[in-house]
Amino acid sequence: MIIIFEQLAKHEMLGFVPAVALIKQRERDGWSLSALARMISETPELRDAYDALLSGIRLSAAFDPGKSILVTSAQPNEGKTTVASSLAITASFAGQSVLLIDGDMRRPWLASAAGIADGIGLGEGQAEAGEAIHPVELFENSQEAGSLSIMAAGRKSPAFLPAVDWSKARTAFRLFSQRFGIVLLDSPPILAVNDALLLGGVVDGILLVVDAGSADRDAVRRAKEQLEPIGTPIIGAVLNQFDPKIHGRPNQPYRGYYLGSPR
Ligand SMILES: Nc1ncnc2c1ncn2[C@@H]1O[C@H](COP(=O)(O)OP(=O)(O)OP(=O)(O)O)[C@@H](O)[C@H]1O
Ligand SMILES: [Mg+2]
Repeated sequence: MIIIFEQLAKHEMLGFVPAVALIKQRERDGWSLSALARMISETPELRDAYDALLSGIRLSAAFDPGKSILVTSAQPNEGKTTVASSLAITASFAGQSVLLIDGDMRRPWLASAAGIADGIGLGEGQAEAGEAIHPVELFENSQEAGSLSIMAAGRKSPAFLPAVDWSKARTAFRLFSQRFGIVLLDSPPILAVNDALLLGGVVDGILLVVDAGSADRDAVRRAKEQLEPIGTPIIGAVLNQFDPKIHGRPNQPYRGYYLGSPR
């Protein structure tokens, strides 16, 4: 675990997201953006963690002056979807206009999480981007400022990805960046399929999610090696499911590791 931290420390450690009772909440409320938004607004440590992560991203030298971010991880289940959608929600709470895009065409989730029926999205290409972008109201009679829009993964199989005209896709993402304050693109895990590497070429920066409980040294190293040739800066990493009792206090992140964390 110490070595993982050293590897990550070469990139900025942008934030720490605490482990929270998301699974229970999702069993109860379903995987919906509104339920996640309610949980963030009612859980101060979660909101603080995402506020800090957003500030870290904004202040990152590697990201300046970017706006679109690919959220990815080495392995499945590290929390990409949760981090991407929570960041989107927190940025909208902070008054920004946000576009959240589902880049996981193998396990699309955003259309149903946001209650979008037609499912048209990223896969249909930038020509239809206008009709693929849907504003979302997180709460009825919301007091929260900002605005959140989403784009679903689309209805195409991911097999079309290698044939995409990537220069057109980059142009489309530049347009999204002009229209929105921040654009977040969720993706499948890097080591499982090529999709995240392809999508990494259209954004301004890449945020690496690392699960504090299951992070694997070689997996993180291989993921970074695969990302490097794309040329898109890795903005930094976020340690998800961080437990201060096990990993040390967030402002002393090394402590738990050097004291011999059991993980
Ligand atoms: N900070 C957290 N605290 C508690 N549970 C979490 C946290 N982050 C994610 N989870 C849970 O971990 C599981 C995996 O999260 P998520 O679906 O976001 O991962 P993923 O990286 O997008 O997975 P996949 O590779 O399948 O796309 C989910 O059940 C989610 O509710
Ligand atoms: Mg996911």
